Amino acid sequence: MIDFQHILTSINEAASNEKDKGKIADYIPELAKVNVDNFGIHLIDIQQHNFSAGKSDEQFSIQSISKVLSLSMALGLIGEKVWKRVDVEPSGDPFNHLSLLELENGIPRNPLINPGAIVIADILVSQLKNPKEDFLNYVRNIANDDTIDYDIDVAQSEKRTGFRNFAAANLLKSYGNLKNDVDVVLDFYFHQCSLAMNCVQLTNTFFMFMNNGKCRRNNTFLTVSQVKRINAIMLTCGFYDEAGEFAFEVGLPGKSGVGGGIVAFLPNKFCVSTWSPGLNPKGNSKLGMLALEKLTTETELSIF
Ligand code: DON
Repeated sequence: MIDFQHILTSINEAASNEKDKGKIADYIPELAKVNVDNFGIHLIDIQQHNFSAGKSDEQFSIQSISKVLSLSMALGLIGEKVWKRVDVEPSGDPFNHLSLLELENGIPRNPLINPGAIVIADILVSQLKNPKEDFLNYVRNIANDDTIDYDIDVAQSEKRTGFRNFAAANLLKSYGNLKNDVDVVLDFYFHQCSLAMNCVQLTNTFFMFMNNGKCRRNNTFLTVSQVKRINAIMLTCGFYDEAGEFAFEVGLPGKSGVGGGIVAFLPNKFCVSTWSPGLNPKGNSKLGMLALEKLTTETELSIF
């Protein structure tokens, strides 16, 4: 029997002793207010035993991690038609790059880079009556937690400075791959990215990707085939131009966000979230990646 608690405690200790904690994202000014010394980790196993260390109950901005949840909702609503508007190949490019979008005629490489997530946001805006409210309820329902909410200050902050996302949305529009108004779609997208969660809430939400589409209460949100597709995209695209490095070091499907969160899981075994707001040059949490490398090395548990 693996002593997860012992491993998480030692990971937390190693993180607090680490001198170089990475650099906080400041292109969204509101995110720059967070203290770089924060570190939290939470793990839930398939039997729903919970293990924590550090600041696992302090909330942070989940940012790009939300792209997995919007993709799930869109797949549930329109099924395989999603893939007509967004591809499923790793980009090898940073999350906010636009060059491939032009080269490939407005079809984003995958739903986890910004242009791809903006297309998914467009699908949700078309499909939902009250997009922001309905998406929030979807996430709350998966997590079984009505306290989860948007951080309006973060959403407004990104709206004021998200020039590259405006550029991406306009480029998509010029290719006919954005049906709604740029402002309406980006308002939804910035709110989606502003979702605040702590490591426990994030782990509870992503339990279903580890558990064949069933949440902690055993309600089905995705078919087994849909989970296969989403998990494959997390493995190949979840860390942008560092997806190869994450698979190499950690060996789990997962997703990162510029708020410093990472969630990763071993199907049918465990789901784990880390939070450390300092990022490496590729925009992924520096200590979060180190922590997960240590976890899969010490437990000898990875998909490989
Ligand atoms: O659109 C953006 O730039 C942010 N709202 C999300 C980017 C992000 O989290 C990239 N992840 N590492």
